[in-house]
Amino acid sequence: MIAEKMLKALNGQIREEMYSAYLYLSMAADFEDKNFSGFAQWMKEQSKEEINHAMKLYGYINERGGNVELQALGKPQGSWDSPLKAFDAAYHHEQHITGCIDKLIKEARDLGDNATEIFLQWYVSEQVEEEDQTDTIVQKLNMIKDSSNGLYMLDRELSHRGE
Ligand code: FEO
Repeated sequence: MIAEKMLKALNGQIREEMYSAYLYLSMAADFEDKNFSGFAQWMKEQSKEEINHAMKLYGYINERGGNVELQALGKPQGSWDSPLKAFDAAYHHEQHITGCIDKLIKEARDLGDNATEIFLQWYVSEQVEEEDQTDTIVQKLNMIKDSSNGLYMLDRELSHRGE
């Protein structure tokens, strides 16, 4: 049986992951609105990944005999001034999520919960990848600046995600 404190923290992480899905879907919708269909596609795929992250926690909580308790999600921002602003916000959001995972691991260690600590290792590796992916796009957008050719090409490149 999992400790109540750990259970509460893992349920909190389901909320974080679901909120991430919601935030990236909001970015996708904003990109659709501005005819950046490739950026929108990338964000829709990212949103799906976040739901998978939440579902992994859902499965783990059940496996450990705990109750999944879903929490309210806040309204995400609905519009960003530029693709750079949106991807930069995504990168900072991923850094926030990495911090959440680090806190969960500390909690598991403090409680001597080895199973949860090992379970969370997957998220540690995933966060390295997620930060790297978003940071790479931010760097490309910084190179492109306001070049419409550059934006057109990057939008096309990112449209292939999930194919
Ligand atoms: Fe599930 Fe992008 O962190």
